[in-house]
Amino acid sequence: MPQKEITVELLTGKDKVGKKSKWPARLDYFQSATGLFLALFITFHILFESSILFGKEAMYRLTKMFEGEPFIEGGEPLIITALAFVIFSMFIFHAFLAMRKFPASYKEYQRYRAHRKLLKHDDTNLWFIQITTGFAMFFLGSIHLYMMMTSPEKIGPYASADRIYSDWMWPMYLLLLISVVLHAWVGVYRLIIKWGWFDGRDPRRNRKRSKVIIKTLIAVYLLLGLVSLASYMKIGYDHKDDYGSRYVMEKN
Ligand code: HEM
Repeated sequence: MPQKEITVELLTGKDKVGKKSKWPARLDYFQSATGLFLALFITFHILFESSILFGKEAMYRLTKMFEGEPFIEGGEPLIITALAFVIFSMFIFHAFLAMRKFPASYKEYQRYRAHRKLLKHDDTNLWFIQITTGFAMFFLGSIHLYMMMTSPEKIGPYASADRIYSDWMWPMYLLLLISVVLHAWVGVYRLIIKWGWFDGRDPRRNRKRSKVIIKTLIAVYLLLGLVSLASYMKIGYDHKDDYGSRYVMEKN
């Protein structure tokens, strides 16, 4: 379908013959699908990244595995560039779709705030969390992904720790961690409610249950991320006089 017709349908909510357009529903579906994919990605990302808690060697081995070392001698950092490019594209597409739901003017935002105070409604508060964390991630996530895409060879126990501690990246990671953990799990909760995934025979009870599980996951992932970040800081601090030198695995 030509771009012009899609734009007209999105603006009017109607198609050429005046019937309700399918595009808003389609875009909603794409937003849910890309969001779910990214939430899954971040769930594994934080787990892999916490390998530092098992020691420098564990993180080094995992990094090399992602560089394809089992198949390519010495590993190939370009694999990370390609992976980061795919994630970055998905990230931008998801943010682009979400922009439809941002308040379009200051007036609209004020109306929303009045609404929020009046209703004290959980869903309105969750929407607010999504909008603010999403806005923060638009910048913070882009900085991180750009760095991963352009300097994929600078990942490892010392390289990452130097970046976090000596290059002063830790405040950025701290804010990104809080934003991404909240955004991902609140997003998953909203998907569960929106599509009624686990409603079963007693939707009210199951929704309450989902909420408890999501809150627990937020707490667990925040804690894991914070402990990992602290661990990189400690390694970076101990390594500051040798800034830039790379980790070499001891031979048995
Ligand atoms: C393929 C894409 C990605 C790669 C290769 C990657 C890699 C890494 C690496 C190696 C670190 C450790 C710190 C460092 O070396 O600078 C890290 C930390 C982190 N990444 Fe990513 N990342 C990717 C995508 C993302 C995305 C899309 C997000 C969220 C929008 C994200 C959020 C974070 C956070 C919050 C931390 C700090 C975690 C903590 O505090 O424990 N990453 N990432």
